[in-house]
Amino acid sequence: MEATPAGDARTRVLTRHAATVGTPHVIVNAPGRVNLIGEHTDYNDGYVAPVALAMGTTVAASRITGDHLRVTAAGFGDTVINLADPMRDVPEWAQHIAGCVAVCAHHGKDVVASALTIDTDLPVGAGVSSSAALEIAVLSALASLAGHEITPTAIARLAQKVENDWVGVPSGIMDPLVIAGARAGHVMVIDCADLTMTHTPINDDITIAVLDTGTRRRLADGAYGDRRDACERAAATLGVASLRTADLDAVNTLSDPLLRRRARHVVTENARVHQLMAAVADGDTATMRAVMAAGHASLRDDFEVSSPALDAIVTSAVAAPGCVGARMTGGGFAGCAVALVHREATAAFTTAVLDGYASGDHRARVWCGPPAAGVTIST
Ligand code: GLA
Repeated sequence: MEATPAGDARTRVLTRHAATVGTPHVIVNAPGRVNLIGEHTDYNDGYVAPVALAMGTTVAASRITGDHLRVTAAGFGDTVINLADPMRDVPEWAQHIAGCVAVCAHHGKDVVASALTIDTDLPVGAGVSSSAALEIAVLSALASLAGHEITPTAIARLAQKVENDWVGVPSGIMDPLVIAGARAGHVMVIDCADLTMTHTPINDDITIAVLDTGTRRRLADGAYGDRRDACERAAATLGVASLRTADLDAVNTLSDPLLRRRARHVVTENARVHQLMAAVADGDTATMRAVMAAGHASLRDDFEVSSPALDAIVTSAVAAPGCVGARMTGGGFAGCAVALVHREATAAFTTAVLDGYASGDHRARVWCGPPAAGVTIST
């Protein structure tokens, strides 16, 4: 089993920043996330139930003189971002960072010249929100250096704007909001219509397992945007503001079979968020298993965002010892699945998943742990 490598990125960042810049004025750790249920519901004003992970992204930042950000990101390279024209000539990997500067300028928040050192323990493009973790970490560091107080909801909205307006991915609010606002040991249910957050403890006999298929995707590839468009067209056809308020009987009368399937996933998935959270509160593992299985089937068959690798790892997980339930997680097409696992069976579960999973040349990895806290900032 690969243990959760919490803290490795932080150690590397602190060592590198000390050697190249000096003592940091602020250090930020922003976790990744997995979503237990409520997939492709956030941009339909629906419900989601994510948790933050122990592994994440660290940024060390120091004020410097000048009119730019000097960025060093492990595995990507070095770049300089001009504060007056942040998107100019910026390499693709740094768009998420330059977008943070651009969004701050757009919303009247000054950014001070600084040197940022960045590293992550998160796999990139694996559906555990490495992009949102980077954006929340950078925005938090910039806000702290400039002396701005900013709420979890406000910073999450800024990170979503970075993705939507500057990177070009039409993602929803789930990822940045759980990264900004999660509580250790708790599942965070978000009502995405008004951003109400409810924190529900999860029995510490149950651990969260992240199952990485080793396959990767890019949300900017277009399939995510296609799903979002289909949901909007289905809502318009049904005469509702969003699929949150669509009725299943009405959805089943949609004449376009593709819109019918997409809308059916969203309506049934919103119901599954409430079913799973009731089962978590009651410790009802049979219902957790059934609801997660139904969620995976709906994403595979109605929303069509699973993949052979994701299906294979979920099949392997549900057959493994100690598994309460498993499903794909995040945007889909590749990346990770999530499982709830009896804690005492973690080692046997991990071995069985790794042995049972076969998908071409891809090698699986498994991380297990309790839900972690959201972003932390130290000065
Ligand atoms: C990606 C997006 C989220 C959400 C999920 C699917 O992670 O960033 O906003 O839509 O896909 O639930």
